[in-house]
Amino acid sequence: MEITTTVNGNSLTLDVPPNWSLADVLRQKLSLTGTKLGCEAGECGACTVLLDGEPVNSCLVLGVEADGKSVETIEGQIQDGELSALQEAMVEKSAVQCGFCTPGLIMSATALLAEIPKPTEQQVREGLEGNICRCTGYNKPVEAILSVARKKKK
Ligand code: FES
Ligand code: FES
Repeated sequence: MEITTTVNGNSLTLDVPPNWSLADVLRQKLSLTGTKLGCEAGECGACTVLLDGEPVNSCLVLGVEADGKSVETIEGQIQDGELSALQEAMVEKSAVQCGFCTPGLIMSATALLAEIPKPTEQQVREGLEGNICRCTGYNKPVEAILSVARKKKK
């Protein structure tokens, strides 16, 4: 099935098998393998991307559902070769261990900060509820996200 979608700001027309997940389309058709696949059952959040600005588990969304919509993936965080503030903060705060959860965490945090520019620690923790991290205990990712929020103007 042919769909037209915008991925990380690029307008694309794609021929998508109707039963492929959005994660499969991103990873297999577009080689955007920063979106990770863990459980493939909506439990781990490793596959989180933004669909029209909303965080979704791309393993549970069909690729055809992206027709007419915009998709943001972790690859879109890099602008002009520079890491985003969230990516930099995750590195600076040592919030990345194995890194498997990190793209999903960053995409959830991106949606959270777009909605709540100055979240409380509790709001950050709630914003990451759909993202499982087996390594960090969440404290360092939360600290990284709060550090970005503190630097925001509004
Ligand atoms: S791979 Fe999609 S939620 Fe785990
Ligand atoms: S850093 Fe390993 S799962 Fe989060």
